[in-house]
Amino acid sequence: MMPRITPIDATLGAVVTDVSLAKMDGSTWKIVEQAFHDYAVLVFPAQHLTEDEQVAFANRFGDIELLAPDPSLKAVAISNQKPDGTVLGAEEDRYKSLRGNEGWHTDSSYMPLAAKASVLSAQVVPSKDGETEWADMRAAYAALDEATRRRIAGLSAYHSLYHSQAKIGHVVQTGGGYGFHVKGAPLRSLVKVHPVTGRTSLFIGRHAYGIPGLDPAESEKLLADLVDFACRPPRTYAHRWQPGDVVIWDNRCVLHRARPYDYREPRVMRHTRVAGDPATEVAPTHRDDRAATFEPSTSNR
Ligand SMILES: [Fe+2]
Repeated sequence: MMPRITPIDATLGAVVTDVSLAKMDGSTWKIVEQAFHDYAVLVFPAQHLTEDEQVAFANRFGDIELLAPDPSLKAVAISNQKPDGTVLGAEEDRYKSLRGNEGWHTDSSYMPLAAKASVLSAQVVPSKDGETEWADMRAAYAALDEATRRRIAGLSAYHSLYHSQAKIGHVVQTGGGYGFHVKGAPLRSLVKVHPVTGRTSLFIGRHAYGIPGLDPAESEKLLADLVDFACRPPRTYAHRWQPGDVVIWDNRCVLHRARPYDYREPRVMRHTRVAGDPATEVAPTHRDDRAATFEPSTSNR
């Protein structure tokens, strides 16, 4: 069986059918990997993977980035449902983290080693809304006018989860969850060349702030203007989830965000994150004033 790859009507994304992610042979995997590089977002409907199968699928792309203190947990729940079945209240930290995900971002850009890819699978979906949306930073860079390209060439921004959560009124102390660390804020170029495809893209999102050489207001405006320009049709795709769907995306060249839904309903996603290649995804870190202290590191653990 050959996978069928149907491009989405946008500059990124394809739906892949006629494939079982739990039992791919070597040649099928090569087709999927090539499609990942071509389309940056791949949607696999109705896979219904077990947790082990999802981890094994993610592991084909690289090492798993461990997001929980327990190293045996290679997949985590992104969920507003508590173990007792009730849903998170608006005052709870985890609720505020979920709401933070509604801003355009790329995963782990605030860690010394940014993520290569992310896998999400839908377990429980709300009766409506709650999509995930992606935006193509390759096409966004290609669409920039020449003056903007010249302006951002050579510019970098710090990335911090403390920063992005504080902007939505969620101030978190060091140690308050994954990402709230003392390793410092990585400084990452606004323009990124993809290590495999060689394509140039914008590397921005809600975690980015404080472009060296610009005053804070100017930096904030430039970063906001870039996201606003970049995350528009035809460069976006929003996926309406069905339980069992699996999506993988390339954090090196797309932004994503969660879309709102009625938070009184449960929404349970299973997430596995693929670590970046240290050769291309490690960035030097600098003191993050919102962290308790600064202990530079190139490791996320
Ligand atoms: Fe995310």
